[in-house]
Amino acid sequence: MRLILTPLLVLSLALAACTKEQPTAAPAVAPESVVDTEPEIDPVTGFKMTGDWELVRGNCTACHSAKLITQQRGTAQQWLTMIRWMQQKQNLWQFDPGTEARIIAYLAENYPPDAARRRAAIPPDLMPPNPYSTVTLD
Ligand code: HEC
Repeated sequence: MRLILTPLLVLSLALAACTKEQPTAAPAVAPESVVDTEPEIDPVTGFKMTGDWELVRGNCTACHSAKLITQQRGTAQQWLTMIRWMQQKQNLWQFDPGTEARIIAYLAENYPPDAARRRAAIPPDLMPPNPYSTVTLD
C-alpha cells in the first residue's frame, strides 16, 4: 500500500506547488513540444515517412525488400560503405552526389547505430560469402 500511496503523495504535492506560483510578467510563449513525435510508418515498405523517404523508396527497393534496410543500422559512413559495396558487387547504379547525400542523410538520421539494440553492422565486404545467395559475386 505504501508503495502505491507514496508516488501519489509526491505527485499531489508537486501539483499543489505548481498551482501556487502564478507567473505574472512572463510573456506568453508556447511551450516547446516535449514529446519527440515519431514519424508515421509506411505500411508498404516500413520506412519512416519523413524527409526524403520517397527518394530512398524509389532508389533502394528495386532489388530487395525494404526490410533489409529498416533492420539495418549505421552511421553515414557505414551507409555509404554499404552503398559502395552494392555498387561494386550488386549492380547498384551510381547516384548523382546530391541524391546520394540525401539518401545517406535520411538513412543515418532514421536508422542510426543504436548500441542498446545491436552491435554495429559489419562492413559487407568483411562478411563471408552467403552460401544461399542467388547473386554471384563476379
Ligand atoms: C541493383 C540492386 C540493388 C539496389 C537498387 C539496392 N540494393 Fe541493397 N543489396 C543488393 C543486394 C543484391 C544485396 C544482398 C542481398 C542478400 O545478401 O540477400 C543488398 C543488400 C543490402 C543490405 C544488407 C547489407 C548487409 O550487411 O546485410 C542493405 C542494408 C542494403 N542492401 C541497403 C540498400 C540501400 C540503402 C539501397 C539504396 C541506396 C539499396 N540497398 C539498393 C542490391 C541492391
